[in-house]
Amino acid sequence: MLISGRGSNMTALIEAARAADFPARIVLVLANRADAGGLERARAEGIPTAVVPHRGHKDRETFDRLMNAEIERSGAEIVCLAGFMRLLSAWFCRQWHGRLINIHPALLPSFKGLDTHERAIAAGVKIHGATVHFVVPEMDEGPIIAQAAVPVLPDDDAETLGARVLRQEHRIYPLALRLVATGAVQMAEGRAVSTVGGASSAALVSPNPDEAGQ
Ligand code: GRF
Repeated sequence: MLISGRGSNMTALIEAARAADFPARIVLVLANRADAGGLERARAEGIPTAVVPHRGHKDRETFDRLMNAEIERSGAEIVCLAGFMRLLSAWFCRQWHGRLINIHPALLPSFKGLDTHERAIAAGVKIHGATVHFVVPEMDEGPIIAQAAVPVLPDDDAETLGARVLRQEHRIYPLALRLVATGAVQMAEGRAVSTVGGASSAALVSPNPDEAGQ
């Protein structure tokens, strides 16, 4: 798992992976900043951690190769970006093609990039949400694995809306990792394809109605 900050999605994955039937275990939490809050939590959980600072490399790929060495050493087979705030090189994306997933706090393809909640409110959308997708070199593109939608309420600011979205992020990220780890969803020809039957190439997750208005 690659993080840059507080690591609440990382924590959701760690907690999900505790279940005996979860098809993945967390072998490494790697941060590009030594002060990433999530590192402490990972250590407390007994999960190996590593820090690879992103500064001081001649280019993006050099940094990515250093991270990759740590990841390979850990034996990881899937890389989850969980609030990792660096763009990845095409080399790294190729290396982990179909095994690299990210969570984005918006209903892609709307609101790629930063400040998604502010921009959703400014745009006046009534539905917002979160997306887990396979990573390709183009930022916030790549086949969608799971999405959750939440309403945008009239009194929302970026903080209240962001908190509502975050609750859903913590639900769909473990679900999406489960789909990828079991092979139920795979990336093929630029799409997320269900390998267990059905025409759907992605899992669509609606919010628990009890939580929807909160
Ligand atoms: C989340 O909103 C995630 O969607 C985005 O960065 C944020 C990370 O939060 N990519 P956390 O570190 O998982 O709490």
